[in-house]
Amino acid sequence: MPAWVIPVTVQDAPDATELPPIEGHVTFDDVTFGYVPETNILEHLSFDVKPGQSIALVGPTGAGKTTVVNLISRFYNLNDGQVLIDGQDISKVTLHSLRSQMGIMLQDSFIFSGTILDNIRYAKLDATEEEVRAACHTVCADEFINEMPEGYLTQMGERGSRLSQGQKQLVAFARTLLANPKILILDEATSSIDAKTERQLQTALNKLLKGRTSFIIAHRLSTIKSCDKIMYISNKGITECGTHEELLAKKGDYYKLYMAQKTE
Ligand SMILES: Nc1ncnc2c1ncn2[C@@H]1O[C@H](COP(=O)(O)OP(=O)(O)OP(=O)(O)O)[C@@H](O)[C@H]1O
Ligand SMILES: [Mg+2]
Repeated sequence: MPAWVIPVTVQDAPDATELPPIEGHVTFDDVTFGYVPETNILEHLSFDVKPGQSIALVGPTGAGKTTVVNLISRFYNLNDGQVLIDGQDISKVTLHSLRSQMGIMLQDSFIFSGTILDNIRYAKLDATEEEVRAACHTVCADEFINEMPEGYLTQMGERGSRLSQGQKQLVAFARTLLANPKILILDEATSSIDAKTERQLQTALNKLLKGRTSFIIAHRLSTIKSCDKIMYISNKGITECGTHEELLAKKGDYYKLYMAQKTE
């Protein structure tokens, strides 16, 4: 987990233990949380995600989707309730043992100056070049990398200015695959990527999801249709939960969102 995205508010409990290698069972038990006193963003939120399940979080802007995934990585302490991983309260384990087992993919992934090979290997410093190439191949990142002037040895600019948004996302996917976490979080900002990249990302994502518990916040509903469960979060909490087909049949908020996107 890169240090620059970790708020410093949370620290290990004095008697924190190591979280052993996890299966990826995630439970929210009556969670109440607010960033500032007296304004709760989440109230009495409970849900249970089995190892390997994929969960999509959808809902209006500001509803609390990012907040939910922030709490799984314990970026903040709760006001009340518990977040459990494999039955263990995450406030009682070390942050390192928790976060080293999670893959967090943000859309604008960090690119440092150095080769693209090093940028991807960063997720697992002892990975061989072959391993890096294999991961890139799996998530369809090798195509654009091979097209660059020096392939995997191409130097990245200070801010990764040579990469498009979609390419940066593929780099994030490759890093995550290399790190091989049991829990995966994808929090994607709205973006305009072309249809070809979108298809590539979708294929790559489907491969990444296999065998991992995944939380996906995506604004294009095509990305999340095949998730095991979709949770609709509004400022009242989780108002709808089910598969894509179940929620469409309900003709509620998810249905409205889907219909609105279809006609865009
Ligand atoms: N660091 C923070 N400090 C204070 N308030 C915050 C912070 N981050 C988010 N909030 C507030 O918490 C609420 C939920 O925000 P959150 O980012 O979880 O929404 P979201 O559902 O992810 O929205 P979007 O779809 O726009 O990403 C919002 O009212 C937001 O203003
Ligand atoms: Mg968000």
